[in-house]
Amino acid sequence: MAKGLEGVVVSETSLGFIDGQQGRLIYRGFDIHDLAEHATFLEALYMLWHDELPDRDALDTFERELAGQRDLPPGVLEVIRGLPTDANPMTMLEAAVAALGAYDDEAGDNDREAEVRKAGRIAARIPTAIAAFDRIRNGEDPVDPDPDLGHAANFLYMLRGEKPKDVEARALDTSLLLYLEHGFNASTFTCRVIASTLADLHSAVVGGIAALKGELHGGANEKAMRMLLEIGEVEQAEAWVDEVLEQHRKIMGFGHRVYRTEDPRATHLRQMSKELSEALGDPKWHEIARKVEETMLDRKGIHCNVDFYCGIVYYTLGIPLDLDTPLFAAGRIGGWSAHVMEQHGDNRIIRPRAEYTASKDRKYVPIDER
Ligand code: COA
Repeated sequence: MAKGLEGVVVSETSLGFIDGQQGRLIYRGFDIHDLAEHATFLEALYMLWHDELPDRDALDTFERELAGQRDLPPGVLEVIRGLPTDANPMTMLEAAVAALGAYDDEAGDNDREAEVRKAGRIAARIPTAIAAFDRIRNGEDPVDPDPDLGHAANFLYMLRGEKPKDVEARALDTSLLLYLEHGFNASTFTCRVIASTLADLHSAVVGGIAALKGELHGGANEKAMRMLLEIGEVEQAEAWVDEVLEQHRKIMGFGHRVYRTEDPRATHLRQMSKELSEALGDPKWHEIARKVEETMLDRKGIHCNVDFYCGIVYYTLGIPLDLDTPLFAAGRIGGWSAHVMEQHGDNRIIRPRAEYTASKDRKYVPIDER
């Protein structure tokens, strides 16, 4: 038995490949470093869904289409308004995506063309739902999306009510690209299991969001930043790590099931965290993070993962901490939906077995005789 399905191959995929020994991540043949340096999130998303990089016309059309679909159906906005203001934003996102399904005319259509259209609508609207929820819980009106702004710039605009600097929009856009796809991780596998029953895309995505919420998966980016805030000063970092390790607790943003070397996404986010916090924020958080990283490598030989430096990038962008994981979902929606399409394209229900460890011979005892 492989606990946690470690090393178990459950399917073929042409979407993402992780070389855990070399620290390489490939989206459909393209190295993540190449894409992070040159492409935008929507360009990489288009490539993942269509298996080819868009030419200029195709990208313009795709960007315009998604920009035109950012508005939430009024009923979905009502669902968000109806939630308690202290609701967990990932719970809000589960509810919002389920509601988007209820308002989508093509919700039950699992044909590939319909799924591409639906995935576009979900990808366009997740950022709107996140920003609207944040404004509503702060007693403010949601800001209408601006179709002239790019995907990431528009999110920051809807969140703040002011247009962001280019450097801020680019940093957020690259982080979404880095979160886009990552093989058979827990949330993507969840999506595929749901899709394999021939349930629809929205239902699969709701499942993906639920799996991402946990701190061993997407919840780690928020937890990692909270940890840095708790450490507070560079001088405290080493002792803080030692204390946590002594208590046999995990340090969020470190370790990975597949990578045995540096997570290539962390390489970019470390650089972005440095540049962004020097230019716009407080370099202290990056310095504390470097010390934590150095100490973890020295004590345990464990590398940081995608979530560690992402927390600092989002913090420097002024994004509330509990929106870190919803933003991970705003990127991973691309991978989830691509995997649902791949699963529906060559489906067999996913149904593993378990090793039974209890008795097989117990007898029912009537309730008054127990
Ligand atoms: N902090 C401290 N120790 C860690 C650790 C961390 N973040 N991650 C792994 N380890 C240690 C474990 O304690 C275990 O040590 P042991 O063999 O002495 O018991 C060993 O490394 C293997 O870890 P394990 O939890 O069995 O690996 P896994 O493949 O089941 O889990 C993660 C992978 C990602 C869930 C795990 O590394 C983790 O919990 N990380 C923190 C959460 C996180 O950042 N998640 C985001 C992933 S992108």
